[in-house]
Amino acid sequence: MHLVVRRYRPSDKDAVLTLFSDGILEHINPSFYNAISNPVNVGVTLFLSVAGYMLGGGSTLWALLLAGSWVGLVYYCCSQLYASYVRERLRTDMQDIPGCYLSHPDNCFWVAETEVNGRVEILGMVAVVGRRDGEMCGELFRMIVSSKCRRTGLGYRMTQTVIDFCKERGFSKVVLETSSIQTSAVALYKKLGFSHILSHTKTYSPEWMTIISRVTILKMEKVI
Ligand SMILES: CC(C)(COP(=O)(O)OP(=O)(O)OC[C@H]1O[C@@H](n2cnc3c(N)ncnc32)[C@H](O)[C@@H]1OP(=O)(O)O)[C@@H](O)C(=O)NCCC(=O)NCCS
Repeated sequence: MHLVVRRYRPSDKDAVLTLFSDGILEHINPSFYNAISNPVNVGVTLFLSVAGYMLGGGSTLWALLLAGSWVGLVYYCCSQLYASYVRERLRTDMQDIPGCYLSHPDNCFWVAETEVNGRVEILGMVAVVGRRDGEMCGELFRMIVSSKCRRTGLGYRMTQTVIDFCKERGFSKVVLETSSIQTSAVALYKKLGFSHILSHTKTYSPEWMTIISRVTILKMEKVI
């Protein structure tokens, strides 16, 4: 498949927004499986089913009701974590990509396109914002590769595009944040020489939701 990586154009907006939402919301189910199989959450589920059974005077229905409510809450926290992120981004920078990413020489937004049966299709995206954070660094955002063409080297190429841009601008490092659930992304960044420098639980959801969903945000950086 011949893919061209180029700067974003306003006509890409619909395809980019769909790719972005799909690429983030796909983490809801993996994060739920990860959270619900966590020993603490397994313990809480078991505890609530026993408590429900006893409080309900030996009722299996009460056991299922209490345990089921907890499992539902865990799913809700996982879905909110990613859904609130998408909502916030669609309301802010993704609403005005030219204004946020293409109006300053230290920022950029790229898409990867290909032609399928004479029709142009957007299969990847990535953005960078230059920041003066003591020293000048580039922050990588919005890295998504369509599920149609994963593991073909596009993510590597898009990340390298950001690294090359940052080098050209004289930045000293590239930084980014991802979540502990995004294991493909973590593997990709590690392959390109990024190291994990810190973890935190600040997201667009209340912190208790992040804790229940057992997700941590990983900050990574690569000195260039
Ligand atoms: C993360 C993502 C961008 C990777 O894109 P990709 O085009 O599939 O990645 P590449 O084919 O360039 O892979 C490069 C390297 O990354 C690592 N990698 C990528 N996907 C991987 C996976 N599923 N499992 C293990 N390693 C993986 C491998 O080291 C791979 O090299 P290899 O294929 O020679 O082993 C893509 O999976 C994606 O869009 N995921 C959903 C959105 C997301 O999580 N974005 C990150 C936001 S921070």
